[in-house]
Amino acid sequence: METINKYFFLTVIVLGLIACDQKTDSQVSGVEWPSIQSPIAKDKTIENRVTEMLEKMTLEEKVGQMMQPEVRYITPEQVKQFHIGSVLNGGGSIAGKDGYATLAEWVQRADDYYYASVDDSDGAVPIPIFWGTDSMHGASNIIGATIFPHNIGLGAMRNPELMEKIGHVTAIETLTSGVDWLFAPTVAVVRNDRWGRTYESFSENPEVVKSYAAPVVKGIQGKANTPSLFAEDRLLANVKHFLGDGGTQYGIDQGNTMASEKELRDIHGQGYFSALAEGAQVVMASFNSWNGEKVHGNKHLLTDVLKNQMGFDGFVVSDWNGHGQVKGCSNESCPQAINAGIDMVMVPSDWQALIANTIESVKQGDIPMSRIDDAVTRILRVKMRMGLFDRGAPSQRKFSGKYEFLGSDEHRAVARQSVRESLVLLKNNQNILPLSAKQKVLVAGPAADDIGWASGGWTVTWQGVTDSNKDFPDGTSIYQGIKAVVEQADGQVELNEAGNFSEKPDVAIVVYGEKPYAEMQGDIKHLGYQSNVHVDLKILNKLKDQGIPVVSVFLSGRPLWVNKEINASDAFVAAWLPGSEGQGVADVLFSRVNGEMNYDFSGKLSFSWPKYRHQEILNWGDENYDPLFAYGFGLTYQDKNTNLDLLPEDVSFDKDVAQLEPVDIFVGRPVEPWQAYIQDSQGKISIRNMLPEQSTHIQSFSEDKTTQGDSRRVIWQGDALASLIFESEQSVNLAQYVKQNAVLSADVRVLTKPVKAVSLQLDCGEGCKKSVDLTETLKQIPGHVWTPLSIELDCLSSESNVFDQTEAFAISTEGSMELVVANLRVEISDDQRGRMSCDAL
Ligand code: BGC
Ligand code: BGC
Repeated sequence: METINKYFFLTVIVLGLIACDQKTDSQVSGVEWPSIQSPIAKDKTIENRVTEMLEKMTLEEKVGQMMQPEVRYITPEQVKQFHIGSVLNGGGSIAGKDGYATLAEWVQRADDYYYASVDDSDGAVPIPIFWGTDSMHGASNIIGATIFPHNIGLGAMRNPELMEKIGHVTAIETLTSGVDWLFAPTVAVVRNDRWGRTYESFSENPEVVKSYAAPVVKGIQGKANTPSLFAEDRLLANVKHFLGDGGTQYGIDQGNTMASEKELRDIHGQGYFSALAEGAQVVMASFNSWNGEKVHGNKHLLTDVLKNQMGFDGFVVSDWNGHGQVKGCSNESCPQAINAGIDMVMVPSDWQALIANTIESVKQGDIPMSRIDDAVTRILRVKMRMGLFDRGAPSQRKFSGKYEFLGSDEHRAVARQSVRESLVLLKNNQNILPLSAKQKVLVAGPAADDIGWASGGWTVTWQGVTDSNKDFPDGTSIYQGIKAVVEQADGQVELNEAGNFSEKPDVAIVVYGEKPYAEMQGDIKHLGYQSNVHVDLKILNKLKDQGIPVVSVFLSGRPLWVNKEINASDAFVAAWLPGSEGQGVADVLFSRVNGEMNYDFSGKLSFSWPKYRHQEILNWGDENYDPLFAYGFGLTYQDKNTNLDLLPEDVSFDKDVAQLEPVDIFVGRPVEPWQAYIQDSQGKISIRNMLPEQSTHIQSFSEDKTTQGDSRRVIWQGDALASLIFESEQSVNLAQYVKQNAVLSADVRVLTKPVKAVSLQLDCGEGCKKSVDLTETLKQIPGHVWTPLSIELDCLSSESNVFDQTEAFAISTEGSMELVVANLRVEISDDQRGRMSCDAL
């Protein structure tokens, strides 16, 4: 590793220098890409079979073969009618249903598609369909699956061999659903930790990503040139997202990666080199742009580089409507993407129009027939290589529908091991760890007994918002793991999220961190953890003030600035997003009953840990590299002088942060510590989940303004008082904001104008309520168009101390009304658009 690191260090410096005058040479080709020898060589028999089949196919059949609709939007009959080549289920779309499905339901659905695809009664060539799914950290769409740590935690293990096992287990568990192809591994090399997909990346260091990509592919597909390749316990892997996904400016999801071609190759390309050399057959194109141009339309990268120079003979699948983002394209039509080299189009719902338009483009000569033939050849080649034509119907396959292969003890043991190895110990003052289990242990923190929280995004639901531990049958929360160890040693354990207790504990383990999020909703503005209200810090301090030693188990999808929380803890463990096998944490925190060490910490940071909130671009090998904890850091029980002095807590030298940053309340999702609710006389329902929620007098749906689920539509039925409420878990002090003329701002669409009085109410602590009348304001907003609206906070009260304890904002009316709300925040803004002064209210 040493030499590799040095080499990498130099490369980065050189790249840094190149980057300085990169503008002119950035997209100049002539950069040499490696030619990769795939171990899955072209097979004459397969190639001949493909050619014969292609000759018999009509244009309609060929174009159908290139489509991948989403299972919610296509029936088996349509699969037959349109000769569809593949389907996928998106995150949280469980066998096409929102909610749970049994394995039998999955397999039945897979069978229905399969039989439709091979039905040749209309004279079409029978070609088995394949189903793709996001098994990103275990078979995370299937209830009861083993959920592994997200990639960021796996990266900390530095254990490529274990990665192969993880890939294999994930393949087997996915096979229980009758699915054939999994959209993993992600080989993004994330360079800006603001990105909401940072946790899907193994490391900021391309070498780690490279060392992992191959074993994961091997685990999923089996080893090329051995009988394990595509054996019945294996399926199709998919490397993604090609190329530059982890390099976008400001860490913006689907954003723009400004980089030279050399940088693309040497940083972002590394995972592909090893994955293709292991025999990966599918590459997913990336949503991001490269120097301003969407990769989905970039022929140089998709065809010249990947297929020609690197010699990739599998196929390229596009990402979810990614083609529609190419300049001049829509979801329904995009010859550019196909011409650029997309072979299969992931087109969830608009596939009928896309088929018609693609056929038309071929007829018009906008897409050469040779391009279609090449795309279909690649798809059929892969289907044959993986044995799809010989596997039979999903229900006939060995693992389909078999619960004994889902979440089995053996599989969970692999996950538990990976949890242990992924933990990174950042602080261990006075060598407080490992703990004796024979004492009184308090387990606190909101995430302690919450497997969904510990699993993060892409788990059961798309954004990872789950209802309770019931979503994880046979899974173990971190608390449950601790409880088992302590009780076995005759110690005592008490669980209290808030950090209260009935008997003073000898030690407290506090489990907290980022709530689940996924793509589109997980980007952040800087790396400060809970900057507005340090909710969890209060728990730590409360314990510390009572003289109780505190061990923090911090869950997060990226390194964050947590100096205050570290200072308030005697020991601090970065546990990432460990998944369903929480015992792995207790395995390492506690020693054995006889006092001997059980497992040591072995995890090492695969991402540099920031010293400042604005150090989001902080990568090993940077010039002036100045982390708090360097890449590769991680204490063990062998380290003796582990005492860490108090870290600076002052953020004033963190110049870039404006004194008062906006307080985001609902931006993409409810932003901590805020929660959203609908309420009427029947009760109060949380609407954090993207599922529709309904009470007697009020309803809420999630809608898409810019990205999916970033707005809420609320319908007041008009027969009784009902409210939309944004409430903070901990009161927020907005007094300084009011002094600086802050506004409560939002984007609003009025679908049905109010008929009775509408009030905006502020809850400001015990017995304190203030409100203004919004009726006229809402009536004047033009119907149906998104309109910015901002209300000066001091309209609610002229005394700024009223805002010391802001607890909630509520919009209420007894009459009917329908609104869509997005981007709700308190901010100091000079923007006059939609600004209401108090006189107008
Ligand atoms: C799907 C995800 C998909 C996302 C992209 C969601 O509705 O469930 O799988 O990645 O949309 O827009
Ligand atoms: C994501 C992919 C994912 C796909 C299907 C996209 O939005 O970027 O990583 O595989 O959805 O869910």
